[in-house]
Amino acid sequence: MTLAIEGIGLSKIYNSREKMPGISGLWRRKKIAAVADVTIRLEQGKTLAVVGESGSGKSTLGRLLAMMETPDSGSLRFEGRQASELSRAERLALRRRIQMIFQDPYESLDPRLSIRDSVEEPLLALRIDAKEREERVFAALADVELSPPERYLSLRPHQLSGGQRQRVAIARAIVLRPTILIADEPTSMLDVSLRIGILRLLERIRARTGIAILLITHDLALANYASDRVMVMYGGRVVEEGETRVLLKDPKHSYTKLLVASAPRLEPGRQRQRLTRPRPELIMDTT
Ligand SMILES: Nc1ncnc2c1ncn2[C@@H]1O[C@H](COP(=O)(O)OP(=O)(O)O)[C@@H](O)[C@H]1O
Ligand SMILES: [Mg+2]
Repeated sequence: MTLAIEGIGLSKIYNSREKMPGISGLWRRKKIAAVADVTIRLEQGKTLAVVGESGSGKSTLGRLLAMMETPDSGSLRFEGRQASELSRAERLALRRRIQMIFQDPYESLDPRLSIRDSVEEPLLALRIDAKEREERVFAALADVELSPPERYLSLRPHQLSGGQRQRVAIARAIVLRPTILIADEPTSMLDVSLRIGILRLLERIRARTGIAILLITHDLALANYASDRVMVMYGGRVVEEGETRVLLKDPKHSYTKLLVASAPRLEPGRQRQRLTRPRPELIMDTT
């Protein structure tokens, strides 16, 4: 088993403010452990899903792995090398090999740029001549099944459908030929009918290129459909982890059981239960 990336004991604390109860206009400082002591191993060529409710720390974990933020503690290893020991140049090169896509493709697409310029832009920092850049832009658009690419080159993001926009965001991410793709709720803003198309596309890209995918989603059905392994997060911690089919079929941890029970499409015919916040003692139990 070759690891594409390994995070050991990662933690990230944010300072935030909260309203003082009962006293209007007064705030107090509060520290939030968005990610607390998370160890995560992403194998080359595999899809690992990170699931959990909103606020459980999934996006923060994604940003830590993408080196968009530095952890307060813990370490990152990339293909066996400690990220903190890399030189500045090596770090830069490494960051290019870890790409992210987001729920909202507008986050990675500049509305003023044409599709061609959007997809080409990441290449401008590299020493690649114009001809090769053009070839790579065409190839990336073909890879995300926007064809023929010529039809899309001069369009702007607002002229595309949501699904097409997400495809352009994926093209922009893969044009650098990354080895890791972190997809943070990549289909949440799309119509249900388009979601499977994007997931299948990611799957085909993975099969062809051997890229490792971290699929962040609050949707268990999606994780079930598209991942090899799954990690369940709650309150910044990992509560359970394992092979997707096994874990979702037979969850051991009470929080995972609640999540599975509240996901209607996993078990057709079963009544959907409301996801209520589990009591702390449920979260503390071990698996
Ligand atoms: N930049 C930030 N500043 C302060 N708090 C943050 C920041 N980013 C995330 N948080 C907090 O950290 C926790 C985890 O957030 P997040 O990683 O976005 O969870 P998820 O992606 O699972 O919804 C939440 O309580 C959130 O409010
Ligand atoms: Mg999130």
